[in-house]
Amino acid sequence: MTKTIAWGITGAGHFLSSSFSIFGQIKSEHDIRVNSFLSSAAEEVVRMYGLEKELENISCGEYLEEIFLETQQGKSWPKTGRFLLDKYDALVVTPATSNTVSKIAYGTADTLVSNAVAQAVKGSVPVYVVPVDIAGVVVSELPYGIAREKCQKCDPCPPRDNCPNEAITDQIDLLKCSGCGICKELCNFNAIKGGPVELKVRDIDSRNVELVRELEGITILEKPEDIPLILDEI
Ligand SMILES: Cc1cc2nc3c(=O)[nH]c(=O)nc-3n(C[C@H](O)[C@H](O)[C@H](O)COP(=O)(O)O)c2cc1C
Repeated sequence: MTKTIAWGITGAGHFLSSSFSIFGQIKSEHDIRVNSFLSSAAEEVVRMYGLEKELENISCGEYLEEIFLETQQGKSWPKTGRFLLDKYDALVVTPATSNTVSKIAYGTADTLVSNAVAQAVKGSVPVYVVPVDIAGVVVSELPYGIAREKCQKCDPCPPRDNCPNEAITDQIDLLKCSGCGICKELCNFNAIKGGPVELKVRDIDSRNVELVRELEGITILEKPEDIPLILDEI
């Protein structure tokens, strides 16, 4: 029987690509519908990492496979009412920013994704959360930027002149960038970077994850690769 998963995406770079890979994988291997719910920050970050098309492949737009954007909703989040109507087998929030984890921990429901969690629990839909910041140090992927020590300030500048979004001046405007990577290929001095950065997890974020672990109806998953394991239990 077809399973329907609601996918809550928040604005984290960490675990973003792997969350997309896993959802792509389970869609291709199982009879699953995926209805996506994006926070405003997720909408921006998904574009920065060049994953918009991939999202459309996972949620094609048909009924229960729509992409719901926070920026296109009101403030009462009417779409989350679906969690009370027996439409979903699970809600999976991945990646979950420390911001959204703190909202879930304290029962705040004032964003599309935190409200989806609240309604899912009220509707007895199992919720799975993949926090980006659990403990220790995480290695995150940065979007594109200019390595100033390498930039030769060429004029003409091939990356700037060929950016389809006119996102490049003396820096890259990430709100315009669509993560296509053309600039990285065109720079003769290898001055466009993007890649791994180490971040320390704040103790407040670790504590919030522990609080969420205690909550009724919500399970913490350590990484997106654990998502296929839940398919047998939903
Ligand atoms: C490129 C980029 C990457 C980010 N990565 C993370 C991240 O890995 N973890 C995190 O907690 N916040 C991250 N943020 C910050 C969040 O997007 C920000 O806190 C936002 O308010 C979260 O809102 P949301 O929880 O509603 O999605 C990132 C922001 C940008 C611009």
